[in-house]
Amino acid sequence: MKPCEVTVFGAGYVGLVTGACLADMGHRVEVLDVDRSKLETLAAGEVPFHEPGLADVIGRGVASGNLRFGHPDGLESCGEFVVVAVGTPPTTGGAADLRFVRSVVDLVAKRAAPGAVVIMKSTVPPGTGASLSETLSPVGVEYTSNPEFLREGSAVRDWFKADRIVLGGPEAAVERVAALYEGIDAPIVRCGIASAELIKYASNAFLATKISFANEIARLCDRLDADVDLVMHGVGLDPRIGPAFLKAGIGYGGSCFPKDTKALDYLSSLNGYDFHLLKAVIDVNKRMRLLPIMTLKDVLGDLRGKQIAVAGLTFKPNTDDIREAPALEIIDTLVADGAQVRGYDPVGVVDAGSSSFEQAATLAEAVRGANAVVIATEWPEIAHADWRELAAAMDEPRLVFDGRNCVDGDAVRAGGGNYVGVGRR
Ligand code: UDX
Repeated sequence: MKPCEVTVFGAGYVGLVTGACLADMGHRVEVLDVDRSKLETLAAGEVPFHEPGLADVIGRGVASGNLRFGHPDGLESCGEFVVVAVGTPPTTGGAADLRFVRSVVDLVAKRAAPGAVVIMKSTVPPGTGASLSETLSPVGVEYTSNPEFLREGSAVRDWFKADRIVLGGPEAAVERVAALYEGIDAPIVRCGIASAELIKYASNAFLATKISFANEIARLCDRLDADVDLVMHGVGLDPRIGPAFLKAGIGYGGSCFPKDTKALDYLSSLNGYDFHLLKAVIDVNKRMRLLPIMTLKDVLGDLRGKQIAVAGLTFKPNTDDIREAPALEIIDTLVADGAQVRGYDPVGVVDAGSSSFEQAATLAEAVRGANAVVIATEWPEIAHADWRELAAAMDEPRLVFDGRNCVDGDAVRAGGGNYVGVGRR
C-alpha cells in the first residue's frame, strides 16, 4: 500500500483516533486543532481524554514520524486526503450546527491542491455534502462522505476491526479513499453522498430505538413480575434481532445518540415528514432519567436534606466523557429538590467549580451514610464492589437504585439495604 499524505481537522475523539490509526497503517498524517492547550497536551506525549489503547497508537505514530500535530493557522497546504472531524453540536432547535464544518471546508478550498479528496467524518445531515461540494468543486477538490461508527472506550479496536466502511461520493474519489483503508478487512458500502450521510443517522437512531424498546419492556416487567435482563436475553437470541443494545437502564447518553436522534427528527420535520417512532424513542429516553427520582421520592418521601450518592458520572464506562451523561441530569434534579449529593466516578471528573455536588475520592466514601444510592454507570469497579458492605455502611432506608442493572441485589439485601433495579423485580 502506498503511504498517503493526510491532513485531519479536529483532534477530538474521532479526529485523533482516525489520525493516529491512519498513521499506524503507514500513512503520513498531520492532525490540526484550534485548541492550543490540547496541542500542548499532545506535544507533551499525553492524550487529552481517556481512550484505552490510544496512547500507544499515538506514541508509535509520533516516534515513527508518521504523526504530527499542528494549528490550522500555520497550514500552508493540505495533504492529498483531508479528513474533517470537527464537532457538529446541536443548536437549541435540535438541528446540527455546521459552522465548524463550513469554516474548515472554506479553508480547505484555499489550501488544498486540485485533485485532493475531502473525507467527511463529522456527522452532518443529509444534503450537507451536496452543498459543501459547491465550495470544493470549483477548485478541483472532490468530496466524499465517510461516517464513523467508533464507540468511545473501544474506538481503536473499532477502527481496526470495523464492521463496515461507508463511502459516499463520485466513483473515482470513493475508490481512492477505499485504497486508503487497505489492510482493514471490512465490507465497503459504496453509495451516493446523501445515502452515506443517512446511514450514520439511521444507524444511531436504530440503536437508540433498541435501547428505548428494551426500556419500555423493562417498565412492563416492573408491572408483571418479570425480569427484563432475562426477557431481552431470550429476545436477543433470535438472530433476526441480535443481543446487542438491549440493555435496559436509565437510558442512553453521550455525544452521539441524543444529538443525532434530535437532528434526524429535526431533519424529518424540515422535509415534511413526522418521524413518530423516533419522537417516541427520544421521549422514552427522557422518562428513563426521571425513574430514579420517582423511585427515590416513593421510598424517601421529600428529598430535602436527604443524603444521596450517585455512583458513576460518565455516560458509560471506560471513558471520561460526561457529555449528556444521565448521571448529571439526575444530580441536577436531586439538587433542585434539596438533596445533598455526593458523586463518585473512577475517571470522569466534573469541573468542581461549576458542580453543585460534592465529589468523593472513593465509592465507599460517597456511599457512607447515604440514605440512597443511584448507580448511573456500570463501571466494573462499581458493579463488582462489595455491596453487602456498602449497604451496611449506608443510613436508613438504605435504598440502592441500580440504574444499570449491574449489581447483585441479594448482596445489597444481605447488607440490610433495599435494592431496586430497572425492570428487575
Ligand atoms: C455511539 C455508537 O455506538 C457509535 O457507533 C457512534 O459512532 C457514536 O455513538 P458511543 O456514544 O461511544 O457510540 O456509545 P455506545 O456504546 O453506543 O453507548 C451509547 C449510550 O447507550 C450509553 O449511554 C450506554 O450506556 C447506552 N446503552 C447502550 C444502553 O443504555 N443500553 C444498551 O444496551 C447499550
